[in-house]
Amino acid sequence: MGDHLVTRRRLAAAAAAAGATALARPAIAQGAPLRIGVMLPYSGTFAALGENITAAFEMHLAERGNRLGGRAVQIIRLDDESNPATAVQNVLRLVQRDRAEVLVGTVHSGVAMAMVQVARDRGVPLFIPNAGVGAATGQLCAPNIFRSSFTNWQPSYAAGFWLGRQGVRRAAWMTWDYAAGAEAGQGFREGLEAAGGQVVRELKLPFPETNFQPLLAQIPGLGVEAVGAFFAGGGAIQFVREYAAAGLKDRFPLTGSGFLTEGTLAGQGAAAEGMKTTLHYGDRLDTPRNTAFRAAFRARTGREADVYAVQGYDAAQMLAIGMEAVRGDLSAEREWVRAIRTARIDSPRGPMTLSPSHNPVQPMYLREARGGENVVIGTVIEALADPGTGCRMSA
Ligand code: PHB
Repeated sequence: MGDHLVTRRRLAAAAAAAGATALARPAIAQGAPLRIGVMLPYSGTFAALGENITAAFEMHLAERGNRLGGRAVQIIRLDDESNPATAVQNVLRLVQRDRAEVLVGTVHSGVAMAMVQVARDRGVPLFIPNAGVGAATGQLCAPNIFRSSFTNWQPSYAAGFWLGRQGVRRAAWMTWDYAAGAEAGQGFREGLEAAGGQVVRELKLPFPETNFQPLLAQIPGLGVEAVGAFFAGGGAIQFVREYAAAGLKDRFPLTGSGFLTEGTLAGQGAAAEGMKTTLHYGDRLDTPRNTAFRAAFRARTGREADVYAVQGYDAAQMLAIGMEAVRGDLSAEREWVRAIRTARIDSPRGPMTLSPSHNPVQPMYLREARGGENVVIGTVIEALADPGTGCRMSA
């Protein structure tokens, strides 16, 4: 923000000195590029997620000629390795050394907490394109923090609710032991209970470990009818394969938030076939918007789009809405915040609005893995909003 204000002032002064005040006007449009600090995992178990978020984020910028609100954009990428231990240092590097005016990130809930903290301390706009940590749009909500994805509670609540409606009364929950796994577990439990069932056991291992065998061995002895889980990325590929290889798939159907089979089906193969999960996106959402998005993503990357690509794309759409509203001048915070908060965002997932705490209000689809695609076969909840507990933010 600093630089372009300086530039504006300089241009205004030069214009005034020349007696040409009319020239001062377009200064913002000609100002310094908008520096966007993109902090995501490009290595480790979530690497593919970071790549798809980035590719789709950049795709939307390209659709706008790489200009937002009249300013050119410049992306500064940083690999956060999904490592909470180095997260604060990494965000500060983007803000201080690289003088990022906008932050975009990240995938991992623990790392996202560091971004939230810095965004709050310094008032830097933050767009979260994945991490579902509740506090970001709960107790720690702020005018300058927006999320284009979900809270961990949302898709898992839908999974538990759907499972209960199938008549399941006793289920186990398996996950990585960190914020996302715990919050998703809470959602799953609440959803299942709302539909008459209960979670009788939670099985956890440290993130991002994949030593699933000792936990899988316990499942037949638990007296459960089904298993819910939160894993994603490389870890989800391995988990779903081992679950099937252990002979559990047909005896204890495996479900959970759709991350379990999202962007992972090629690696999971037959092990995932027939798995039902819930998520705010699915491959066969048959709308012109989604079809066009998927074709453009495929043409640009040679890969299939997934929910992570959608969330990256929508983070760019949200930033663009804000930037256009203030013609590139992010110091007009009230105005750009209001523009995004009240927008109806034309997402590939369907038209999307935001809750008062800046989190998407969205449908939760039931999907079935079929032949390498997560095919939408129903809608569990039409429009699910996270309660945003603890968020107090004056409009
Ligand atoms: C998270 O840490 O919040 C997280 C990570 C990967 C996902 C979903 C949530 O796919």
